[in-house]
Amino acid sequence: MTDPVLSLHGVETFYGRIQALYKVSLEVREGEIVALIGGNGAGKTTTLRTISGLVKPAAGSVIFCGHSLTGVSPDAIVRLGVVHAPEGRRIFPRMTVLENLQLGAFARGDAAAIADDLQDVLALFPRLKERLAQKGGTLSGGEQQMLAIGRALMAKPKVLLLDEPSMGLSPIFVDTIFEVIADINKRGVPILLIEQNARKALQVASRCYVLETGSIVKEGPAAALLNDDAVRKAYLGED
Ligand SMILES: Nc1ncnc2c1ncn2[C@@H]1O[C@H](COP(=O)(O)OP(=O)(O)OP(=O)(O)O)[C@@H](O)[C@H]1O
Ligand SMILES: [Mg+2]
Repeated sequence: MTDPVLSLHGVETFYGRIQALYKVSLEVREGEIVALIGGNGAGKTTTLRTISGLVKPAAGSVIFCGHSLTGVSPDAIVRLGVVHAPEGRRIFPRMTVLENLQLGAFARGDAAAIADDLQDVLALFPRLKERLAQKGGTLSGGEQQMLAIGRALMAKPKVLLLDEPSMGLSPIFVDTIFEVIADINKRGVPILLIEQNARKALQVASRCYVLETGSIVKEGPAAALLNDDAVRKAYLGED
């Protein structure tokens, strides 16, 4: 097997004296969508923030394409191609849709390719194409979520980290977002996906890790976890 694109080995992350992650190890390989599920406060967002360099792990390592990300700045991590679409859709409300998308490409120097990628993103999200001059803050919640993902794509990710992309969306938008996630992956981008909607996540993912109070308690093929009694009970709302 080839080396993983992204891997975590024994990662421990603290906020002050509070430990949020305990020996977290996981990997994302070429072509994969890997789901990370778990309840509120389990440490999912912290895992992504640790990968992105926004918080520093006290122990363990994060390896991207054979290079350690320890001590690398968040900007430089984006430039390497590790791109994080944060939870809560942090778009810039006073900037237009077009400006928000262009900001996603801030770390790139290849102007011609940026124009092409913009067309690709707009093809993926026709709603954004119709609203290029609209201020980000006036978009609907679902449209802002599309903009957040579109902006992440403009950074030309080699691996994409998505934090709760379907949060707060109506069922029809949830379906659209998951179709887009599958589509992005088919175009060759491996994805680490955090989702409260565990069923949808397991349906789109190839593999899954379950995080409970900062520790990985289970991992396996997504199809197997969909049929796992404990997972069904805890995360799929079945008894
Ligand atoms: N900036 C912070 N300072 C102190 N503690 C924090 C901070 N951010 C997160 N935590 C704590 O770390 C733990 C993990 O939080 P995290 O946001 O990673 O959880 P999560 O799995 O993403 O949860 P959710 O599903 O609610 O988004 C929680 O107990 C949380 O209170
Ligand atoms: Mg979170």
